[in-house]
Amino acid sequence: MAAVLAGIGGFLPPRVVTNEDLSATLDTSDEWIRTRTGISERRFVSGGLSTGGLAVEAGARALRSARADAVDAVDAVVVATTSPERLCPAVAPEVASRLGLGQVAAFDLTSACSGFLYGLAASAGLIASGAADTVLFIGAEAFTTLVNQQDRSTAPIFGDGAGAVVLRRGEPDEPGALGPFDLGSDGSLADLLAVPAGGSRQRSADGGLGHGAVPTGDWYLRMEGRPLYQQAVEHMTRSAQSVLKHADWSVADVDWFVGHQANVRIVRAVAEELELPEERVAVNIDRVGNTLSASVPLLLNDIAARGDLRPGDRVLLSAFGAGLSWGSAVLVWPDVAAVPVS
Ligand code: COA
Repeated sequence: MAAVLAGIGGFLPPRVVTNEDLSATLDTSDEWIRTRTGISERRFVSGGLSTGGLAVEAGARALRSARADAVDAVDAVVVATTSPERLCPAVAPEVASRLGLGQVAAFDLTSACSGFLYGLAASAGLIASGAADTVLFIGAEAFTTLVNQQDRSTAPIFGDGAGAVVLRRGEPDEPGALGPFDLGSDGSLADLLAVPAGGSRQRSADGGLGHGAVPTGDWYLRMEGRPLYQQAVEHMTRSAQSVLKHADWSVADVDWFVGHQANVRIVRAVAEELELPEERVAVNIDRVGNTLSASVPLLLNDIAARGDLRPGDRVLLSAFGAGLSWGSAVLVWPDVAAVPVS
């Protein structure tokens, strides 16, 4: 028995923010952003759209892509997000209701940029445990709301969006069967990428009296780019090697490397370490930036929708993010419909 991918969809909010747009208010340039990160434009939520709305749109598209019998069977909704709709409650129950899925099991999980890999493993676990037969799993992020748009070291990097998959109970040897997985973390380096304020630590420190003592910057992302870059290359490479070993695949077996899009230089450096040729490395960061847990499913959807990723292709997924946390998985791509995200 295995969790099998049976549908995929993605959604990007309509507001496009180009490098030129950012350069109008920040001490940066299109040239710096493109050469250092590979990003040309990204999307920002606007007009009241937030994580829940992004998740609903992507979830609806994944349900349309899945076979009708899989849709009827959805009995759990999982949302990976590090830009929650609010601190409490989770957004997944609301997403399930808005999609008309009824009173199904629903919860959120937080694992930043590795959220899609952790969420895939958790969703597969729901199926393996018998708690669910079919899971709608969504990575949804309005993370630009947590980024200080006056900080040139973080503002150009992130974008908003959502990607979703439908997973159903199936057989380990059929296309779309997920796994093995490799997951890991290193909490000793949590401060390399963090939003310090807003949670219990800051609330308990100020005695619950208010937020006056909290420096404004603490409400926003703090990131140390250089050490993160090194950690990302190291852990994505090791995790990918480990999952290939467990799957008994060689690098030559991999048709597509679909890595988290944090920086095109990170993705290329990992591919180089793995000795994967460039034509097998999927990239869409130029158009979307770093969308955290939405990054891998948006990229899968993109390359499937344009016909580059075909049924039977062997796919290596790998991601790294805050926590620190990382994860990898493999699957043989199934015959699922994918629609371009505009
Ligand atoms: N525009 C112009 N110049 C900028 C800039 C910007 N937006 N941001 C930084 N700079 C400047 C710096 O001030 C520095 O100037 P200096 O040499 O005069 O001191 C120079 O550019 C180089 O900065 P540095 O931070 O060393 O650049 P970098 O090559 O490491 O690239 C990142 C910065 C953030 C793009 C890169 O480190 C990265 O991608 N890190 C990983 C981030 C990440 O993955 N985060 C999410 C985790 S999943």
